[in-house]
Amino acid sequence: MMSKVFVALSTSVDGYITGRDPGAGRGLGDGPTLFDWYFDGDTPSQVFDGFRLSEASAGVFDAVAGRVGASLAGRNTYDDSGWADGGTPHPTAPLVVLSHRPLPATHERQTLVTTGIEDAVAAARKFAGDKDVGLMGGDVTSAALAAGLVDEVILHQVPVLLGGGRPFFQALPQHIELRLVEAVPAPGVTHLHYEVLRSSRTDNPR
Ligand SMILES: NC(=O)c1ccc[n+]([C@@H]2O[C@H](COP(=O)([O-])OP(=O)(O)OC[C@H]3O[C@@H](n4cnc5c(N)ncnc54)[C@H](OP(=O)(O)O)[C@@H]3O)[C@@H](O)[C@H]2O)c1
Repeated sequence: MMSKVFVALSTSVDGYITGRDPGAGRGLGDGPTLFDWYFDGDTPSQVFDGFRLSEASAGVFDAVAGRVGASLAGRNTYDDSGWADGGTPHPTAPLVVLSHRPLPATHERQTLVTTGIEDAVAAARKFAGDKDVGLMGGDVTSAALAAGLVDEVILHQVPVLLGGGRPFFQALPQHIELRLVEAVPAPGVTHLHYEVLRSSRTDNPR
């Protein structure tokens, strides 16, 4: 079976995935963090060392993290996260970076793609094998949605209106229908798992 492409990001209720003024050396920028729920519980993650989540969040988080066979990040995520040192967002999965520009350094677990979202997703699928591809970054997510390449959208929705930052979703050529698969309320976060029903490019049922 072909691996799936999903995006699972922490987001404010008003749809921001960073605080204000994120950037290289400034991480996710100013304002309240969207990641307290990684560390505010008693249940250790089985996938990410050091994460201690509520029991409800650990179930969702580890199920998602366990699916990732490759991560695909946009250049802003790569820069802002400081991955020029070889870091990756997942402990075992390799990272594909989509950018128009060369990376400052090459590392074994990182691959640069400069030829667009289709090629980047294809490269990530190859690395993922029979596991799935996890998207990182709002711009890349919107590019993949516009190209009809996303199967699932997962919002780890934190109850805050940030009022500014980098948006999870940008303008799309047309609407995309979703089906709610699961909604899990947890302390400090609500996990909303959607299946993408229609590709915006073809408008065909998937
Ligand atoms: N809250 C969360 O869970 C979460 C998760 C992941 C990331 N983040 C944060 O989100 C922020 C980044 O999101 P973002 O939406 O600003 O950016 P992004 O999606 O990470 O990166 C966008 C960049 O990727 C490159 N790119 C995109 N499409 C391309 C294409 N078709 N061909 C070649 N290059 C392409 C371009 O870079 P160039 O043209 O400059 O090369 C573009 O400016 C970061 O601060 C990151 O830390 C938050």
